[in-house]
Amino acid sequence: MPTNLAEPSTREIGDPGPDVADLQLHRQAIWTCYKEVRRTTEALCAPLEIEDYVIQSMPDASPAKWHLAHTSWFFETFVLASGQPGMQPVDSEYAYLFNSYYNAVGERIARDRRGVLSRPTVAEVFRYRAAVDERMKDFLDQAGDPEFERVRSTLILGLHHEQQHQELILTDIKHALASNPLRPAYRESQTEAAMPAEAGAPGWIPFAGSLRSIGHEAASFAFDNEGPRHQEYVAAFALADRLVTNLEYLAFIEDGGYERPEYWFSDGWYARGRNGWTAPLYWESTGGGRQVFTLAGMQGLELDEPVCHVSYYEADAFARWAAARLPTEAEWETSAMALGVPMEGNFLESGRFHPACLMATHGPAPRSSPAQLFGDVWEWTQSPYTPYRGFRPAAGALGEYNGKFMCNQLILRGGSCGTPRSHVRPTYRNFFPPEARWQFSGIRLARDV
Ligand SMILES: [Fe+2]
Repeated sequence: MPTNLAEPSTREIGDPGPDVADLQLHRQAIWTCYKEVRRTTEALCAPLEIEDYVIQSMPDASPAKWHLAHTSWFFETFVLASGQPGMQPVDSEYAYLFNSYYNAVGERIARDRRGVLSRPTVAEVFRYRAAVDERMKDFLDQAGDPEFERVRSTLILGLHHEQQHQELILTDIKHALASNPLRPAYRESQTEAAMPAEAGAPGWIPFAGSLRSIGHEAASFAFDNEGPRHQEYVAAFALADRLVTNLEYLAFIEDGGYERPEYWFSDGWYARGRNGWTAPLYWESTGGGRQVFTLAGMQGLELDEPVCHVSYYEADAFARWAAARLPTEAEWETSAMALGVPMEGNFLESGRFHPACLMATHGPAPRSSPAQLFGDVWEWTQSPYTPYRGFRPAAGALGEYNGKFMCNQLILRGGSCGTPRSHVRPTYRNFFPPEARWQFSGIRLARDV
């Protein structure tokens, strides 16, 4: 029944609130989550100068202004318009500008042309967000139960969708700022140095071969691509108990890793040559040694930090050089589940926005549980992004959310320093083309036993 929503109190990023993954959230809790997610998105944009909002530094990256508008368009289109047939949009031209890829919704500006959108202005986009927020509050206040129930799951999907774009805001603005010869910082580092541990040699955690279940089945939220839960035979393997570090990756470089085709897939070898890769994205060599661009500006390369911003091709070449391989997604997921690895780590809420050194709390190798499995960097797997057995995309436009991308991409697992903690799960399947390097992507090794 219609209800009067109370305004949630203002909280800091990361403060606990209603669980965004709870599919049975009541209206007040949904409104609280909605406000929190929307506020976090805007807080991530707060350090930006007005000029930063419009930059599109490459076709894969979108301007921050576009992310702000697109996430609003998602709620307006899939929640408000479908919950209230006949509703007039805030601006009838915005669908063309801010539809990302939904063919069922209509034509749209090309992805690589989002940077030409000097209008609507940043101020107009913020007004658009505010107008959508107002309409969302009115809808949640006034909708009857049948109307509300009809869009409840889409509304929760919209919250997770906006969280995905929060990470993209960080990775896209990082690429834009790194493209500027001045290498401006997004903001100064706001975290204190933690107690790092010596990485030491990695340990290997063995797993016996067995028939294992993977995929999402719980009553909580998951994207459709995480199911159906099904069985796969996973042969005996071992998983590295920590991530690959910059020091180890540097040894690969210094051993001629980028000049030795025997370590590379053919596609990767040509991508390396075509793009002039000699090191991970954002690494720079200066007279003073190796530096790396971070969201806090240029910094000296920390050798014990996890290597980050590598493509699948580089991750695989490193693994071959190291006489190991990348894990499959079934190995990764069943390891996390079998060991009950807590979903704790360096996520967006830390405010660090950069992978961290192994912490002393993880203890020395060999560890009984893999360190940094969640957070810090997305871990490339060798698994292609394909549908699980029995997967069927949803009917209608939202069936385009995941299913149509299940070709020519690889799975990454575990979340990163740019991922909201409540966004990730052991079953979460992130996916990017093998050449992509601008996400917080890193390496965990596996090997046959
Ligand atoms: Fe989107």
